Amino acid sequence: MSEVILEVENLQVKFRVSKRDMLTAIQDVSFRVHKKEILGIVGESGCGKSVTANTILRLLPSQTSQISNGKILFHGQDLVQLSNKEMRQIRGDKISMIFQEPMTSLNPVYRIGDQMVEMYRAKNKHMSKKEAWQKAIHMLEMVDIPSPEQRMKDYPHQLSGGMRQRVMIAMALSARPELLIADEPTTALDVTIQAQVLQLMKQLQEEMDTAILLITHDMGVVAEMADTVMVMYAGEVVEYADVTTIFNRPLHPYTRGLLASLTRADRDMGRLSSIEGTVPPLSQMPEGCRFNTRCPDCQAACKEKAPALLEVEPNHMVRCLRCGKV
Ligand SMILES: Nc1ncnc2c1ncn2[C@@H]1O[C@H](COP(=O)(O)OP(=O)(O)OP(=O)(O)O)[C@@H](O)[C@H]1O
Ligand SMILES: [Mg+2]
Repeated sequence: MSEVILEVENLQVKFRVSKRDMLTAIQDVSFRVHKKEILGIVGESGCGKSVTANTILRLLPSQTSQISNGKILFHGQDLVQLSNKEMRQIRGDKISMIFQEPMTSLNPVYRIGDQMVEMYRAKNKHMSKKEAWQKAIHMLEMVDIPSPEQRMKDYPHQLSGGMRQRVMIAMALSARPELLIADEPTTALDVTIQAQVLQLMKQLQEEMDTAILLITHDMGVVAEMADTVMVMYAGEVVEYADVTTIFNRPLHPYTRGLLASLTRADRDMGRLSSIEGTVPPLSQMPEGCRFNTRCPDCQAACKEKAPALLEVEPNHMVRCLRCGKV
C-alpha cells in the first residue's frame, strides 16, 4: 500500500462530567490511513466515531475533554503536541472536515459566495476579492452545482440539503487537503441525493488523491465507498480489516449484527435493530467485554476479561475472546 499519512496510536479521550469525575469516551483506538485510502468508521450512535474524528482535528471542548493517552501522527508529527496556532494551519488546509448538517457550518446570514470568498482570503492574504470569487465559482462547478454564478448570491437556506452539502465539499476540498474527515456527510439527505453526493466525493477523491476518513452508521455506504473498515463499539475498535474481509469474513458478533441489519427492511427505516438493545452510556460500561450485554455468543469469560484487539490473520484485527481464530 501507499504511504501512511495518518497514524493514530492507542488514543484515549476522557470527558469531565463533574468536578471529580471523568469518563472515558474512547480508549485504545489505533488505526492508519494511507494516501488515497478511504477508511470507513462504522458503529451505532454513541460508539465514539465523532469523538475520534473531532480529536484528530482537536475540535473537542478544551475545558471538559482531555486526550489522556496516545498519539495522532500526521506525517510523523504528533498533532496532540501542537499549539492551537499550529493546529489552525493544519485544519482546513492539510486536513479538512465536513459534518452531517451543513447548516451548522454555513453562516445563515451571509450569501454562499461571500462565505467562500471570505474563507479563501482568510487562508491566503494575497488573494484579491475578484480572484477569490472566480475560485469559488470554479469550485462550485467542480461539485456540479448548476448555475454557480447565481448560487453564489443565494443564502444557505435557499439551497436544498444536497446542494448545501456540495458547497461544504467544495469548501472542504478547495485547499486540496491530504485528508478529508467526513462525519456522516450524507445521513441528513434522502437516499437518491445521498448516492449522488457519495459518488461526487469518490470522484473528487480520485482526482485529488485525497484520503478520506468516512464516518457512517450505514454498512451499505461502507460497501460502496471504503477500502478499509474500522468497526467501533462503546469507544473501542472491535474489528478492523479491508472491506472485502469485513463483508466476507466478519468475525466479531457486533460486525455480524451490523451486516445482518443491511439485509433487513429495518435499514429503510433508518434502524439497526437486528442487534437487541443499545450502546451503554459511558457511566455504565459493563465489566469484561463491552459488548457482552448484547452479544448472542456471550459466555462466562466474556463478563470477566476484557479482550485485547488481536491480529487473527494478516491485517484483520478483532477484539473478541471467542473469535481468536479464523
Ligand atoms: N462533550 C462531551 N461530554 C461528555 N460526553 C460526551 C461528549 N461528547 C461525546 N460524549 C459521549 O461520548 C460517547 C461517544 O460519542 P460520539 O459522539 O463519538 O458518538 P458517535 O459514534 O459519533 O454517535 P452518532 O452516530 O450518534 O453521531 C457517547 O457516549 C457520548 O455521550
Ligand atoms: Mg457522531
